[in-house]
Amino acid sequence: MSIGSPAGDDVIVASTSGPLSGEVTVPGAKNSVLKLMAAALLADGRHLLTNVPVIEDVAIMTDLLGAVGLRISAAPAAAGESGQHLEIVNTGAITPIAPFEVADRIRASVNLVGPLLARFGHIDIALPGGDDFGGRPIDMHLRGLEKMGAEFQVTPDGLFGRCARLQGAAIEFEFPSVGATENIVTAAVLADGVTVITNAAREPEIVDLCDMLRRMGARIEGAGTNTITVTGVEQQALHAATHEVVTDRVQAATYMAAVAMCRGDVLVRRANLDHMGMLVERFREMGVSIEPADDGARVRCDGPLRSVNVSTLPYPGFATDYKPLIVAMLAMADGTGIVTENLYPGRFRYVEELRRLGAEIDIDGHHAVIRGVGHLDGAIVNAPDIRAGAALVVAGLAAQGITEIHDVHHIDRGYDDIVGRLAGLGASVSRIRRSAGA
Ligand code: UD1
Repeated sequence: MSIGSPAGDDVIVASTSGPLSGEVTVPGAKNSVLKLMAAALLADGRHLLTNVPVIEDVAIMTDLLGAVGLRISAAPAAAGESGQHLEIVNTGAITPIAPFEVADRIRASVNLVGPLLARFGHIDIALPGGDDFGGRPIDMHLRGLEKMGAEFQVTPDGLFGRCARLQGAAIEFEFPSVGATENIVTAAVLADGVTVITNAAREPEIVDLCDMLRRMGARIEGAGTNTITVTGVEQQALHAATHEVVTDRVQAATYMAAVAMCRGDVLVRRANLDHMGMLVERFREMGVSIEPADDGARVRCDGPLRSVNVSTLPYPGFATDYKPLIVAMLAMADGTGIVTENLYPGRFRYVEELRRLGAEIDIDGHHAVIRGVGHLDGAIVNAPDIRAGAALVVAGLAAQGITEIHDVHHIDRGYDDIVGRLAGLGASVSRIRRSAGA
């Protein structure tokens, strides 16, 4: 039975590859499925999620939700589908206390706050862990929920929250936070009255969550716009749902970046270009051809890349999660590109690893200035987080010689068999299993 990908202190070995060819199927999105799993807390019954990626974060979320009382089991996808199915059984016997040792391992543990408060009136949870990009506050989540009537106490051990039935409220965010939007929407589903969120996040994963909640009986309008209106319903109006997880746009971007850096002609199945507008625009400016194709996108690149400037912004802007990929591409492009990070100040730690491959990158505040050097050279590098780890694998394929990527467990948190998928396109990449003592 699947759920997560294999753990262990493995190493990915990548060597000069390309041109890539064939097809790759993109799995469901990590940043959606974790929230959909948490949403199952709201309604009793047997929920079914399909197109679920086989990744470590799904395994951690399974442990976390199991600890509060959901029963989650995985089954293989049907023929022709990708990923796995997750059956989530909610009997209503939930204890809204999330143990520190599990909750601390994953940022998305914060997504339990909205559903647990709304349904049970209290929570006791470790503060969120996951990728460490520097401080990741949750003040907007808490202020929004306080406006709905909740009271919180934050201690070194975690977050404690209490409320009577939450009340609908007008909540305006100073910044369109993905996590805060998700928490307020899920809390508002069972609140008394109408909640209107302005300056809401518009990511496709928010739309996916709202789609599932609506299937469960929630009343939500405006998902995908900056104003979301939720009309609270009674508990008995909610029921379990079956839902297919939206395609992972960051994994899709990863396979597109691999074609850009190694050259080639690849069909990226299930890539949804409607969700990737700004990325497609920038990749095209760099000389990559991306066109809609049967069930996805055809990606071609046969010449040198051109440099561009990029700023990360909330959706529909250029996602911060794409950034390590484009920085790796710019390291090999003609000219100089500037990448500006507007979401996470600490998100340049992988630059040191790209420099080991010969990249010329200077950091100035929240700007990275990347002077294209034409080619990279293989080296031993460490994956500092999920997205940067994947970018290092792709860069390793484009580099001359052999690149070893260590700390692979970070990549496993969000990528479903990246090695098998790239190898399927003809890339020279393998995973070396390191058992204890080896
Ligand atoms: C989600 C994604 C992450 C992605 C990010 C932005 C998941 C599990 N993670 O993270 O991969 O990079 O969206 O697209 O889905 N902030 C505050 N106070 C708050 C909330 C956020 O200051 O209460 C700040 C954060 O510190 C950060 C920025 O706002 O600097 C963005 O955070 P947010 O949009 O909430 O991202 P996450 O939901 O944490």
